[in-house]
Amino acid sequence: LQRNSRFAKLTQEHVDYFQNLLGAESAIIDGLSKDASEDIEPFNSDWMRKYRGHAQLVLKPQSTDEVSKILKYCNDNLLAVVPQGGNTGLVGGSVPVFDEIVINLQKMNNIRSFDEVSGILVADAGVILEVADNFLAERRHIFPLDLGAKGSCQIGGNVATNAGGLRLLRYGSLHGNVLGIEVVLPDGTIVDDLSKLRKNNTGYDIKQLFIGGEGTIGIITGISILCPQRSPAINVAYFGLESYEKCQEAFKEAKNQLSEILSAFELMDGRTQKLINRATGKKLPLEGEHPFFCLIETSGSNTDHDNEKLQSFLEHVMETSIVSDGVLAQDQTQIQELWSCREGIPECLGHWGGVYKYDLSLPISDMYDLVNDVRDRLMKAGLVGDEDFHPVVDVVGYGHMGDANLHLNVPTRRYDKEVEKQLEPFVYEWVQMKNGSISAEHGLGIAKKPFIGYSRSDTMIRLMKQIKDLYDPNGIMNPYKYI
Ligand code: FAD
Ligand code: MLT
Ligand code: ZN
Repeated sequence: LQRNSRFAKLTQEHVDYFQNLLGAESAIIDGLSKDASEDIEPFNSDWMRKYRGHAQLVLKPQSTDEVSKILKYCNDNLLAVVPQGGNTGLVGGSVPVFDEIVINLQKMNNIRSFDEVSGILVADAGVILEVADNFLAERRHIFPLDLGAKGSCQIGGNVATNAGGLRLLRYGSLHGNVLGIEVVLPDGTIVDDLSKLRKNNTGYDIKQLFIGGEGTIGIITGISILCPQRSPAINVAYFGLESYEKCQEAFKEAKNQLSEILSAFELMDGRTQKLINRATGKKLPLEGEHPFFCLIETSGSNTDHDNEKLQSFLEHVMETSIVSDGVLAQDQTQIQELWSCREGIPECLGHWGGVYKYDLSLPISDMYDLVNDVRDRLMKAGLVGDEDFHPVVDVVGYGHMGDANLHLNVPTRRYDKEVEKQLEPFVYEWVQMKNGSISAEHGLGIAKKPFIGYSRSDTMIRLMKQIKDLYDPNGIMNPYKYI
């Protein structure tokens, strides 16, 4: 991959323009001036420390109008840009590839309005997800998305990646919950589509292109989103199971018996739990070895009603030996403790050095076969083991079972060409054979760019390119990424 020579290189004149517009505090410069007010490095490297760009300038606009002026100037001067939220993305989409200017939304962090009757929240794109959810909690509502990176990711970044997370099975996708967006196009045009309407069939639903667009056609500056009532009764159970078949039975029973109060059904294989223990020393909630674990959460409006349902569900799955062992959280601390066995997985997998991450949609019945196939393959090649000369620590699977979304992860001591050759295109061919998707929720970014053809036809890719060219004819928005 080479830097596109059509793009201008940053000059002092450009920097002067941005400093005049935003003030020195909001334009972090590296390389061109010695008085950089903040270290630029964290904006250049991604969460996994796998991708590293060389931006010399980070801009932190404070208003939609400032975003508009920045983009118009960049478009007129052919300066390439990367929109950046909390920089927690997992496909290298949020950092520059070469010297693109980073436009970080962290200073646009106001809640604009909340309507307690409709549950509609309107907020700046740079509001941190957890801040938005805490604000809603005080008003007995909940943000319809939750994920492990909630303390750092921004709601604009969540919308730009169409993040799925831990409760999609209950609250559905952002494509349904986001009612409106405010977005700035590369030429500076402000599109004010901050609708608060649930129903609006007046032509094409253009906001959908920006939801999951990964910052390739515009910068989202505000969103309007429908937030459900927060459930007062929450229960969390953590089960050990003897096979993946049993996990499927447990899921079927959970849907049957817990139906409308089921709010999460997450899968963790035994290996992820052992690695959590190895990496952090944390004691696991259940004694004994189990090849699989499931975490089930219920949320409802009536504690007695929920407890009654949960009790009969627990009796049933224990009596019929669907689950081998289980624990039910008794208080808020235990709820968090059990959730940490699931939410803590991504962080702990990075403990040994690097991770090869695959985020896949697959038919639920076949989902875990892939993990076994990949493990066999890497074992046969002699690449997995406990010794330092083994590049691979283990091959593990976890994910949002309720959404048929598997996270196949290969934690490694170092990134290794031999391992890569065994994994790719093997994993993508496997997914294609099952008519799955090579990215269920993390997006394509730069990491999955070469593989889009495994999930999308030439016709679909052509249509995407036409949209990109229409909105961003100069190609300045997040270049070198998937489109
Ligand atoms: P960034 O990482 O900054 O950006 C992500 C992409 O969006 C980039 O392409 C960027 O250019 C673009 N972008 C960011 N902000 C804007 C904007 N305002 N306008 C236009 N484009 C923008 N994802 C899931 O789907 N489900 C999970 O369960 C989940 N769990 C995670 C757990 C951990 C521990 C981590 C580190 C990540 C997880 N993710 C998960 C990945 C997920 O994509 C991000 O956490 C989150 O949605 C990205 O938000 P962000 O603000 O950090 O965006
Ligand atoms: C998760 O579900 O934990 C996230 O998508 C992050 C990951 O895949 O590791
Ligand atoms: Zn996930």
